[in-house]
Amino acid sequence: MTQEEQVLGKAYDAKLMRRLLGYIGPYRRSALAAVVCLILGSGFSIVQPYLTKMAIDRSIQSGDVRSLTGIAALYAATIVLVFALSFAQTLLINLMGQKIMRDLRMEIFRHLQKLESAFFDRNPVGRLMTRVTTDVDALNELFTSGVLSVFDDIFTLAGILVFLFVLHYKLALGILCILPLLLAVTLLFKIKVRDSYRRVRTAIARINTFLQENITGAAVVQVFGREEKQYRRFTAVNRDHLDANLQSIFYYALFLPLLEVVGALAVALIVWYGGHQVLSGALTLGTLVAFIQYSDRFFRPISDLSEKYTILQAAMASSERIFRLLDTPPAIVSPARPAARAVTRGKIEFRDVGFAYHPGEPVLRGVSFVVEPGEQVAVVGATGAGKSTLVSLLNRSYDVGEGTLLVDDVDVRDHDLAALRRSIGIVLQDVFLFSGSVMENIRLGNRSITGRDAVRAARAVHADPFIRRLDEGYDSRLGERGASLSVGQKQLLSFARALAYDPRILVLDEATSSIDTGTELLIRDALRTLMAGRTSIVIAHRLSTVQSADRILVLHHGRLCETGTHQELLQRRGIYWKLYQLQYRDQSPGA
Ligand SMILES: Nc1ncnc2c1ncn2[C@@H]1O[C@H](COP(=O)(O)OP(=O)(O)O)[C@@H](O)[C@H]1O
Ligand SMILES: [Mg+2]
Repeated sequence: MTQEEQVLGKAYDAKLMRRLLGYIGPYRRSALAAVVCLILGSGFSIVQPYLTKMAIDRSIQSGDVRSLTGIAALYAATIVLVFALSFAQTLLINLMGQKIMRDLRMEIFRHLQKLESAFFDRNPVGRLMTRVTTDVDALNELFTSGVLSVFDDIFTLAGILVFLFVLHYKLALGILCILPLLLAVTLLFKIKVRDSYRRVRTAIARINTFLQENITGAAVVQVFGREEKQYRRFTAVNRDHLDANLQSIFYYALFLPLLEVVGALAVALIVWYGGHQVLSGALTLGTLVAFIQYSDRFFRPISDLSEKYTILQAAMASSERIFRLLDTPPAIVSPARPAARAVTRGKIEFRDVGFAYHPGEPVLRGVSFVVEPGEQVAVVGATGAGKSTLVSLLNRSYDVGEGTLLVDDVDVRDHDLAALRRSIGIVLQDVFLFSGSVMENIRLGNRSITGRDAVRAARAVHADPFIRRLDEGYDSRLGERGASLSVGQKQLLSFARALAYDPRILVLDEATSSIDTGTELLIRDALRTLMAGRTSIVIAHRLSTVQSADRILVLHHGRLCETGTHQELLQRRGIYWKLYQLQYRDQSPGA
């Protein structure tokens, strides 16, 4: 949260800015074209008051109808040109902004895909989502209404000043007298708005976090009857948001009319002083009218610039956060020169492996064991013993803290990472399904798995019958996370997925625990198919799967305490025997 709250940092950071401008690179030509349009457009609109002056002084005063028509035509031409240029410029800039946003989002997503599990343990989903959405949007604003239109504002200001001084330098100096007043008002506004802007952003971040928790946990809130309580908490969070917005609205409501007042004051000054000059013949009427028009255009860029300051600040803060994310190097990467590019046999060896998620809180300690190619090993132990952690180390979701983990006698860190992960099929208790069809969920975009392979796999694990019963069979679309399937069906689907992938090593992490006893026989058969000819590690609640394993490893508080077959371990009357008494006995078919 604290990170979220720093919505405004330094207003300008040259290094960040340079890096941001780098994103314009591919669209250099559009950017250049847009700037040219901007400058030409403001150039033509600066000419307009001068044309008015010419019309009044040259044509109207002398009754020259022909030159009046000519000037009117010129004026009309500038209007058309300004329109066309501003149209082109708006299109070009926004196109560029959108493309840059797309590039950034792709880059962030690409980067997120490479980061390791430990990173996602540290960074909550909501925060990472903000990087890809809100923060990228803030940068869009910088590119579309910030960086380039600053050129416009500065150019307009300079152009008008030149015209003013050329026309009548004394009156021009008079207008500049208003400037300090304008700057004072703007500065005060800027400070106030910055405060409330910060409050608004903080409130939004809070609302998002709160909503995310309460929508994800809606069922829990309902089950525990916490609706009223959460509603009251949301009322408070929401009120903060309202207050902060009201505050910012108040300042805007004050500032914009105040600007009008300052502008009107300038006009009054010009009319008063200029009027005297006209009467005494020191100034033409046309010049006076032009001055009035210029002064109106003169103050607009100034208030624009002050708004850009806020955009700039927000963009700096956002880009800092985005770049911090992009600069976080993935901790687990494929070696530059992998010692092994494929897993052929599927031998696994843990050699004195130690691991801790947090320093000083070891989860695994001195774990050593070998699983020979094709062997079926079961791992049992109480909840929290470290069973799932073994799996996370095997596929390098995390790297071992101490010791070595070898696959096919090569350290997993020396394996080509993609090849290693491809050769390990993992079926978890909580099956993750993507929104898409059943077929897509089995193939997971792998082109080497044909539709026929997928069906064959589904048939082998007895998933085929229920899939065919779905409305559109294999083409049935699954809701978010497979919402339309039962837990057992999801499990069977994940078996089909694993089998279709045909991995050398198969890991089942409590994958059978959600299947009802009715399908038990089917599952047992499916598992036999699944494990045949592969090295497999089964972490299981179910006695049947454990009993038939070649070997059972008993994990207790992160240590490997016992190994042996079911019978051997029972005879030892150790931890396995105790677990068996507690957990498994009433599941046993004979009991
Ligand atoms: N991502 C994680 N971050 C921090 N601690 C974790 C994480 N995953 C698991 N743990 C802790 O590690 C220990 C072992 O967890 P785990 O391997 O999931 O046990 P098991 O699968 O045997 O139930 C537990 O104390 C658990 O709280
Ligand atoms: Mg587990």
